[in-house]
Amino acid sequence: MSVLKLYEYPSPILREKCEKVSVFDDELRILLDNMLETMYVDKGCGLAAPQVGITKRIIVVDPNPSDDDLSARQPMHLINPEIIWHSEETVLFKEGCLSLPEQRADVERYERVRVHYIDYDGNEQEILADDILSIILQHEIDHLDGILYIDHLSQLKRSRLLKKLEKYYNEEKHKKVE
Ligand code: CO
Repeated sequence: MSVLKLYEYPSPILREKCEKVSVFDDELRILLDNMLETMYVDKGCGLAAPQVGITKRIIVVDPNPSDDDLSARQPMHLINPEIIWHSEETVLFKEGCLSLPEQRADVERYERVRVHYIDYDGNEQEILADDILSIILQHEIDHLDGILYIDHLSQLKRSRLLKKLEKYYNEEKHKKVE
């Protein structure tokens, strides 16, 4: 398994609409394995293919990506995921994204969603997700349509967050030069 290069905001690839997967082969499964590995190494609980430069409808998630207890992990690979139902109720949750490092903001999401997808072995699956898994799935499926969580914020909150992100990037660059 290998760790893939992560694309960060404002990379244009994060804004592309991804294509459905139609070929289920070893190459796809290697990509799924590498995406999961990348997600764990970068300490995320979800990762979408465009974040590693691939515009295909693929996400990996783990609501419990613990490093201390590997047996507690709950990895999921979802190919062509689609939200086929959502609750009327919504919840606020503080979200982050590996493509916008070190930033977080409250986002309103549906409390529960039902997602149809194809799994690692090519089988059709459906899951009714609540709690944090519901939020992760909505965040990651958004990525496949070029939508980032900051798009759900007010303009004021978004521009504040992007200013902080820019500051973070500048400090990081500074560190690398030293
Ligand atoms: Co994200």
